[in-house]
Amino acid sequence: MAIKFEVWQNPDELYNRAVDVISTQLQDGATTFGLATGGTMIPLYKKLRNSSLDFSHCQSVNLDEYVGIPQDHSESYYTFMKNQLFEAKPFQTTNLPNGEATDVHEEANRYESLLKSLNLDVQLLGVGENGHIGFNEPSTPFASETHVVELTSSTREANARFFNSIDEVPKEAITMGISSILRANCILLIAVGEKKRAAIEALVKGEVTEDIPVTSLCNHPNVIVLTDLNVI
Ligand code: F6R
Repeated sequence: MAIKFEVWQNPDELYNRAVDVISTQLQDGATTFGLATGGTMIPLYKKLRNSSLDFSHCQSVNLDEYVGIPQDHSESYYTFMKNQLFEAKPFQTTNLPNGEATDVHEEANRYESLLKSLNLDVQLLGVGENGHIGFNEPSTPFASETHVVELTSSTREANARFFNSIDEVPKEAITMGISSILRANCILLIAVGEKKRAAIEALVKGEVTEDIPVTSLCNHPNVIVLTDLNVI
């Protein structure tokens, strides 16, 4: 297995290490970054905003976007990325799936073609409590490409904290598929907090199963996992 686990009990040091990985990738010539949203990424993006790193020659592709809320909605991933990173650290080109497309399935195909035309140097990942990556929920085939997903009630409940009520949480999203994610040359997964323990323990165990999407990373040659959980 080519997963390198690093346990950092101090979150500040953990996120410094994440910046360090990204900085090294940049120095080594990486220009295409797969980005993620979610609470896990907020401290990382804060550190990137405050860093001297320059992404102005780089392009980004985000993992996913909600369907059915406008781009300028406060909780769209477009808005998240703008506020957390892009306004302070401009990229040459940024890409997110368009959750407002008239035909979201066609949009998923367009996004997958875009991904295939790129050489994704690094993909940042968080992980859901149920082991999801992107919005690939348990039982998603590892061969999946970018597609439209119906969000599970557990994911909608977990994300309800960002909305006024659970009813406002979108029911669908467009997400990179598992095979789209695994095409990245390097994957940097960050998992912080007890809620992520089951998912990370499954990864450490190395039993690859579509019931726990994050275990698909065991099939990838170059993964770094940064966690504050004492799992190794
Ligand atoms: C975000 C994403 C999700 C999150 C995961 C963890 O773009 O694709 O898979 O990484 O839901 O979310 P947080 O970080 O909020 O615990």
